[in-house]
Amino acid sequence: MSLTHLVTGASRGLGLELARQLAARGGRVIAGVRRPEEATGLRELSAEVVPLDVTDAGSVAALAERLRGRPLDVLVNNAGLGGGAEPLERLDVTTLDRYFQVNALGALRMVQAVLPNLRAGSRKLVVNVTSRMGSIDDNSSGGYYGYRASKAALNMINRSLAIDLADDGFTCVVLHPGWVATDMGGMGAKLSPRESVERLLRVMDRLTRHDSGKFFDYTGHQIPW
Ligand SMILES: NC(=O)c1ccc[n+]([C@@H]2O[C@H](COP(=O)([O-])OP(=O)(O)OC[C@H]3O[C@@H](n4cnc5c(N)ncnc54)[C@H](OP(=O)(O)O)[C@@H]3O)[C@@H](O)[C@H]2O)c1
Repeated sequence: MSLTHLVTGASRGLGLELARQLAARGGRVIAGVRRPEEATGLRELSAEVVPLDVTDAGSVAALAERLRGRPLDVLVNNAGLGGGAEPLERLDVTTLDRYFQVNALGALRMVQAVLPNLRAGSRKLVVNVTSRMGSIDDNSSGGYYGYRASKAALNMINRSLAIDLADDGFTCVVLHPGWVATDMGGMGAKLSPRESVERLLRVMDRLTRHDSGKFFDYTGHQIPW
């Protein structure tokens, strides 16, 4: 079955690779990017490139308007903001809200905006790309306050989405892509974007409604909260 996916943050890194592999499968890909004119990596793909800043309500509303009446099978909330390694003493707490705006609220804003499209789709799958760094259980090294807390918030948002949309037949999950060699992950990372996305797509293909509300890594293993 050929599905329509909307991928946010598709200009580079995992988002670009998701768009590439999904397009190669023959599905329809809508690739959300902040600056379409600079998203050169998407030009060779058959994806529909759309302007999208997930922190900007006007930008999200414009996309919803553009997609009005078009069924969408899968939303991949991939756009993310990383970094923030400053030690506690030098941390400027007033700058941390941007992590929440992108990593947590951006994803929620997107689900709200395209909910009618997802309801009209056949797969009804919401994939929120989170991080193991958002796991409270797994945090043994501290720091990264904005990134960790915003991904933990995303995990909680996902759980509420899973509950609220269960009766509509939705599957909503948070997926950790592994430590991946992108601008965010750095070149010392273990996985290439290609390997990570191949594994993520394998996990996504197998997801059923029974998995909704859960936290998996790219191998399909569940991660503790
Ligand atoms: N790489 C890793 O090791 C790793 C590990 C765990 C989780 N993750 C998660 O995986 C996802 C993708 O990460 P990545 O490694 O591919 O990161 P990346 O290379 O830094 O790419 C981030 C992407 O997000 C987009 N973005 C940032 N802010 C945005 C906004 N306000 N609106 C729309 N798009 C926005 C960027 O667009 P611009 O080009 O316009 O900046 C870019 O396309 C993120 O959610 C990240 O937290 C990554």
